[in-house]
Amino acid sequence: MTRFSVAAPALELLPAAKLDKALLQAIRSSDHHCLGYEEVQGNPALRKQLARLAFNWGGIVQADEVVVTAGCMEALVMSLKAVTRPGDTVAIESPTYFGIFQVLHSLGLQIVEIRSDPADGLDLDHLARVLQTQRVDACLFVPNFSNPGGSCMSDVRKKELVQLLALVEIPLIEDDIYGDLYFGKSRPRTLSLSTKRVWSCIAPLCPSHWRRATGSAGRFPDGSGQPWLTIK
Ligand SMILES: Cc1ncc(COP(=O)(O)O)c(C=O)c1O
Repeated sequence: MTRFSVAAPALELLPAAKLDKALLQAIRSSDHHCLGYEEVQGNPALRKQLARLAFNWGGIVQADEVVVTAGCMEALVMSLKAVTRPGDTVAIESPTYFGIFQVLHSLGLQIVEIRSDPADGLDLDHLARVLQTQRVDACLFVPNFSNPGGSCMSDVRKKELVQLLALVEIPLIEDDIYGDLYFGKSRPRTLSLSTKRVWSCIAPLCPSHWRRATGSAGRFPDGSGQPWLTIK
């Protein structure tokens, strides 16, 4: 049975023997046999590799900016907690992944749904109208291969989205869990390519229980003092 509700590749497609070998190597080469706690920010060697991988995502990330999380959901929770308080309103696309609703409800956040096209993704005109008529404290979108629609926003529209939200200084969280699942020549870019204002939650493609996301924290470079966090 294929479960379309979760991001889990078919087990028979995974290089199980290679993954087992890599796991054993990691355990053997660890000073404490992987029995102790890692650094709170995440394993330094893993953060270094993820920072290198960021070139494929179109972003420039330093290893010490990366935070490793237990999957994409934890990265989303961290990002949301950093930019919102209970009672705030978060704009999400509709339809979107059911887990995003659960996370927003559990953090006591209000939701405003923005229309999404199956081909082009997020309806930017609808978002702009909503921003004019009601308070939105943060946005959380899945620009690359959204779930369940599968749409992928073009680079031009991604840039427009980033510019629109930068203008009104609304934090933008990007869930890029599926960015590596492309069929074309190159990976679709992340929103964080054009700015450090976006918080990106990017989970490198791997078995679901191995999945990790990474992130980086700081302040908006424009001197506004607002916090930002990039999670890759
Ligand atoms: C868009 C989206 N974000 C996040 C997740 C959850 O990711 P994880 O299992 O890494 O927490 C899923 C899982 O299906 C998803 O489709």
